Amino acid sequence: MSVIDSSNGRPAEFGAPSTARAVGVVSTWNEAAPCNLALRRQAAAVIQGVSIAGAQPYEFTTITVTDGIAQGNHGMKSSLVSRDLIADSVEHTMRVHGYGALVGVAGCDKTLPGLMMAMCRLDLPAVFMFGGATVPGSFRGRDVTALDVAEGIGRLSTGDWSEEQLSELEERACPAAGSCPMHATANTMACVSEAIGLALPGSAGPPAVHNARDRFGRDSGIAAVALMERGVRPSDIVTRAALENAAVIVAATGGSSNATLHLPAIAYECGIDFDLFALGEIFQRTPHLTRLNPLGPHLQTDFYREGGVGAVIRILLEAGLMHPDCLTVTGKTLGENYADAPLPTTQEVIQSVESPVAPSAPLAVLRGNLAPNGAVVKSTPGGQPHRGPARVFEREEDCLAAVLRRDYAEQDVLIIRYEGPRGGPGMREMTQTTAALYGQGLGDRVALVTDGRFSGATRGLCIGHVGPEAAVGGPLALVQDGDLVLIDVARGMLELEVPEHELDRRRAEWTPRENEYQSGALWKYAQGVGPAQFGAVTHTKSVSSFRLADPQGSERDGLGAADTRG
Ligand code: FES
Repeated sequence: MSVIDSSNGRPAEFGAPSTARAVGVVSTWNEAAPCNLALRRQAAAVIQGVSIAGAQPYEFTTITVTDGIAQGNHGMKSSLVSRDLIADSVEHTMRVHGYGALVGVAGCDKTLPGLMMAMCRLDLPAVFMFGGATVPGSFRGRDVTALDVAEGIGRLSTGDWSEEQLSELEERACPAAGSCPMHATANTMACVSEAIGLALPGSAGPPAVHNARDRFGRDSGIAAVALMERGVRPSDIVTRAALENAAVIVAATGGSSNATLHLPAIAYECGIDFDLFALGEIFQRTPHLTRLNPLGPHLQTDFYREGGVGAVIRILLEAGLMHPDCLTVTGKTLGENYADAPLPTTQEVIQSVESPVAPSAPLAVLRGNLAPNGAVVKSTPGGQPHRGPARVFEREEDCLAAVLRRDYAEQDVLIIRYEGPRGGPGMREMTQTTAALYGQGLGDRVALVTDGRFSGATRGLCIGHVGPEAAVGGPLALVQDGDLVLIDVARGMLELEVPEHELDRRRAEWTPRENEYQSGALWKYAQGVGPAQFGAVTHTKSVSSFRLADPQGSERDGLGAADTRG
């Protein structure tokens, strides 16, 4: 049975033309962190644009959580949950008030896919706008970000740094409003918003504090009214080809592994079958063109100065690596929008297809007896295989504590399980642990394997999204201390080197674990969330097929339906 159908359970009234010239303007503004701080002004510019175009704007907001604050504690369990809550809250607001179009302005990791999911689910004319990255901080003569702070905690644990050094860095790392300036999840999904056609060309690039954002806000409002008048909907824009374009831009820019959740989730809202393995094929054939932090030295301000995502899209279009005919919110095709996009003046930040950073993406989808339903690694292609003994932890805190007291050995494979969408619940990011390993100088010599996920800023041999997750009896639940694990990124393999009869014995003895959230929002989330392979969506009609996923993964449950919309 497929988890995808072309209507996706969308009620008929979602698709009915609205006569109202009312435009919902949603932002994820709040004061919790720099990421969303600049969005109120940008939403005001959108409102101005809607009014100029002769329609009536109605502003509203929705929740956000800040990943940079939630990392390393239980708050992170609510991060991915917030994506779907954002989509649900926008759906409710739009349905109740009958607005005829939507403009969404977002700033921090989950807010971007959350708003794009809502747009596709509602299928009303819609324009997305990213709120922009922050400008980098400066610490002792070099640019720094929040990631440097996380790695500084590792340096503190080794005695390399003092509390005073860490405090000074902390104060300087995020000097202004805007999302994290690395090419992490927020900036990756901002690039996606242009490549998929839901955002105006160029709108992903300017930093949050640049005045150019006012113009993009106003123009986004005007564009939404134009789409409403012409009856152009996200279902006209977000086709399978557009999703492939989005995956290509994730690959070419070396984007966040979180995109492997968000693109299938956006596809699901459109009734398009586009899972982790579809992404893996695109990652393999797409050259890596940018040298962006955390894989390279350059931050978003450098990327913007060299032409940003517009330059990368043009390069990829000219190389025949993106579909040029996809419709966008301008009413023109992707090829028309980016035909004259400024190209980089040097090869320092953005390289050519002929001379790429690497011939394939620094993201790979793995598979094997430890991950029959797939896993994701953000890693430089072509590295040597890693084989090492497992050290098993049932939650992130225990692993982080072991790392901070340096209770591990080089070559170890640290397993953190019961952190998946259903088991955590909420599929936490393990960024504190990986950053601490890097801070201790061993990020490349120790592997980490989890059914949780990683920040877009993670580097090192970190394998996440392992499926089926431990909470549903996936093979990860069967690993014991000392078992040998083989990770071979070049061959796309993740293997547990334990005889099958021994795994069968362990499987027969396995019993489900109860997590500590037996009521409230996280409990509710755990009841309905689907697997990472399909984006960990929460409103699937076929959730029973997820629950019945064969733990040995003898078949890819839920696949089989063809996209009916091209
Ligand atoms: Fe919000 Fe990084 S914590 S974008």
